[in-house]
Amino acid sequence: MDCVLTNIGTLCTPKGKTALRGENQGNILTICDAAIGIRDGIIVYTGPKNELPDFSGARIIDCGGKLVTPGLVDAHTHLVFGGWRQNELSLKLAGVAYLDILKSGGGILRTVEQTRAACENELIERGREFLAEMLGFGVTTCEAKSGYGLCTEDELKQLRVIRTLNESQPIDIAATFMGAHAVPKEYADDRAGYIELILTEMLPAVAREGIAEFCDIFCESAVFTPDESRLILTEAKKHGFTPKIHADEIDPIGGAEIAAEVEAISAEHLIMASDDGIRKMAEKELVAVLLPATSFYLDKPYARARDMVSSNLAVAVATDFNPGSSPSLNIQLAMNLACLKYKLTPAEALTAVTLNGAAAINRANTCGSLEVGKSADMVIWNAPDLDYLFYRYGSNLVDKVIKGGVMV
Ligand code: NIG
Ligand code: FE
Repeated sequence: MDCVLTNIGTLCTPKGKTALRGENQGNILTICDAAIGIRDGIIVYTGPKNELPDFSGARIIDCGGKLVTPGLVDAHTHLVFGGWRQNELSLKLAGVAYLDILKSGGGILRTVEQTRAACENELIERGREFLAEMLGFGVTTCEAKSGYGLCTEDELKQLRVIRTLNESQPIDIAATFMGAHAVPKEYADDRAGYIELILTEMLPAVAREGIAEFCDIFCESAVFTPDESRLILTEAKKHGFTPKIHADEIDPIGGAEIAAEVEAISAEHLIMASDDGIRKMAEKELVAVLLPATSFYLDKPYARARDMVSSNLAVAVATDFNPGSSPSLNIQLAMNLACLKYKLTPAEALTAVTLNGAAAINRANTCGSLEVGKSADMVIWNAPDLDYLFYRYGSNLVDKVIKGGVMV
């Protein structure tokens, strides 16, 4: 063994290589007085410390009786963008709705202008800073979307930035192409033309470069319709992308149903998802990626997480980090909200930000739980047990982050 974490007061982890749903979502493994053995960045032992096999010569990390969990997985971020949108705060306070800001050329379209104006190196430097902050909050794997370029060249630019970031800092990043995030200004009077551009130019170009695994779309009133979403995601599948969909965030327009129909890996937001949509997603074993920090920031209702769990739909929780509806990288805040507003138990919420997050980005066979054969990604917390981690809020409770067996 290269490295041993010993004197773990409480080890908490979900188990398995697939998303946990229904009753299983809260069915986690808890071991007191535990140890973890690591070789070549992979977990080779987890269990009671008095049953640890021979580890002579290994580096010892004494966890001082603290809580250890898997590294967190932030399965939904809009990580790469230029500028910020602090001007929208006073608009919001004056009662202007999020979609009205977008309709008037602000919102996502404002960030598109600033992202187009930024060069690749600038975006890489910003992304690196964001990722360092995420790592500090305990995130060891994340997803990152394009969607602020909205033309072939600038969408490719964002995705290349994501590729460079993935190769040059500790967090593993799963890349998502989201050319269908909004209709850009130059196509304001020709949305069919923009959709044609996505279908005939962007999807083939992104597929050719091999720089995105997923394809996402903002299916929402005044953005992309369910029919347009079906069309784009179906075409995306032909190019080898796995579909994702921003569904039923603000208006209930049947996005969850489309997610199930196109057999997406996940649907996101789902604040207004219908019972039928939830049922269909559960039947097809999708993951519901819920974004409570966005509900908080937009002052919207919270997704019906309890109904989803009782409908046997796997729930993941992520930050939705972006410059408009969720300008925070703090996944621990999303975890607190998952308990307080979704009424998930600490055990269910832990699964939501580890194994189920990993499943939502097709990484559940390599991370998301502390089990033999998985990557040694874990967090040592300034917390004695899991309840404490979800009970405290507003402080960063991370003590140490370990990624692939290395303290980072
Ligand atoms: O997931 N809903 C669409 N996209 C982002 C917001 C992007 C923005 O406002 O810049 C979201 O909330
Ligand atoms: Fe989003």
